[in-house]
Amino acid sequence: MKILVTGGCGYIGSHTCIELLENNYQVVIIDNLSNSKKGVIDKIKKITNKDLTYYEGDVCDKDLLNKIFDQEKIDAVIHFAGYKAVGESVKLPLKYYHNNLCSTITLCEVMASHNVKKLVFSSSATVYGSPKTLPIKEDFPLSTTNPYGTTKLMIEKILKDLYTSDNEWSIAVLRYFNPIGAHSSGLIGENPNDIPNNLMPYIIKVATGELECLNIFGNDYDTKDGTGVRDYIHVVDLSKGHIKAIESITNTTGIDYYNLGTGKGYSVLEIVNTFSKVNNVKVNYKIVERRPGDVATCYADSSYALKKLHWKAEKSIEDMCRDAYLYAIKNK
Ligand code: NAD
Ligand code: UD1
Repeated sequence: MKILVTGGCGYIGSHTCIELLENNYQVVIIDNLSNSKKGVIDKIKKITNKDLTYYEGDVCDKDLLNKIFDQEKIDAVIHFAGYKAVGESVKLPLKYYHNNLCSTITLCEVMASHNVKKLVFSSSATVYGSPKTLPIKEDFPLSTTNPYGTTKLMIEKILKDLYTSDNEWSIAVLRYFNPIGAHSSGLIGENPNDIPNNLMPYIIKVATGELECLNIFGNDYDTKDGTGVRDYIHVVDLSKGHIKAIESITNTTGIDYYNLGTGKGYSVLEIVNTFSKVNNVKVNYKIVERRPGDVATCYADSSYALKKLHWKAEKSIEDMCRDAYLYAIKNK
C-alpha cells in the first residue's frame, strides 16, 4: 500500500514514516517545512535503509495535491500537517483556522475526487477540554479551551459530516495524549526553534544549558506531589498506533475515534526526577504560578485502542526520558 503522509517531516510524522517503511508500506510525504527541516528525509532513509517520495509544498495547494494524486497511486492518507502551538493559536487564531481547516478540507476534496477515501487524522486529547472524571474515554463530552483545540474539534466534526454524506469513507481519528521521546537512533526527534511551551522540550533545553531553569507551573494541585499529572507517551509507540489505524481502515468503512495514551499519569516532578536520574544530568527548576488553562490531571483510558486496534503503548517513562535526551545531545 502507498500512504500519503502530510506533515511527514514533523515530529510525529517522521517517526510514523519510519514505522510505515519498516512495515513495507510505500511512503509519499508532502510538507511545506513550516515547522521542520528537509534533512529529516535523509535521516528517515538512513534509519530504514528504504526510499520514499517527497513533495515540498502546502496541503492547502489544491493544484499540487491534484498532481500528487494523479502521479502516485495513493491508497490512504495520514494527515499530520497543521499548526500545534496552543499559545500562538490564542494570539493568531486566523493563522490556525486557516491552515488547519483549509489543509484538511482541500485534502478531503482531492481525496474524494480521486476516489481515495481512507484517512487517519491527528487529533488531540485537547478536544476533551477539562474532563470531569478520569480516565478519559472516547465518549466523554467534547469542548475546547483555545483556538488550536477548536480547529481539532471542528475537523473532527467535518470528518463526521463527510462520512455521513458518503459512507464509502473509512476514517480513524486518533486523539494523542502527550507525545515525548525520540527514535532510539538519536537521529530524529522534537526540536522546537523557539522557547518551548511543552514540558519535555523545556527540560531538555535546561539540561543542555540553553535555558537556565524550568518553571514548574504550580505545586498546589490535588495530585500526588502537587504538580500537574499527564499521560506521556513515547512517540515511537504513538507511531506504531498509526500502523494499526491504517490496518483498521483498510477493509472497512466508517469513522472511529481512539485515545492513544499509556493510561498512566506522571507528575511534572516525577518527569524531572526520572529525566535527571536516567541521564545523570541536573535539571534546575523553580515553582511558579499555575499556567492558566491547565488541568490538574489528565490521562487516557486506552482500552478501546487495545480492543479494536490491538495496540498498546510498550515503552516506559525511563525510555521516553533517555531517548529524548539522546536526540538532544546528538543534535546540539
Ligand atoms: P510538527 O509541527 O512537528 O509537524 C507538523 C508538520 O506539518 C511540520 O513538518 C510542518 O512543516 C507541516 N505543515 C504544517 N502545515 C502544513 C501545510 N499547510 N502544508 C504542508 N505541511 C504543513 O507537529 P507534530 O508534533 O508532529 O504534530 C503532528 C500532528 O499531531 C499535528 O496535527 C498536531 O496538531 C497533532 N498533535 C500533536 C501533539 C503533540 O504534542 N506533538 C499532540 C496532539 C496532536
Ligand atoms: C499542552 C496543551 C495541549 C496540547 C499538548 C500537546 C496547554 C494548556 N495544553 O498540553 O492542548 O495538546 O500540549 O501539544 O497548553 N509544565 C511546567 N512547565 C513548563 C511546561 C509545562 O510545569 O515549562 C507542566 C504543565 O503545567 C503540565 C505539564 O507540565 O502540568 C505538561 O505540560 P505540556 O507539556 O505543556 O502539555 P499539556 O499542558 O498537557
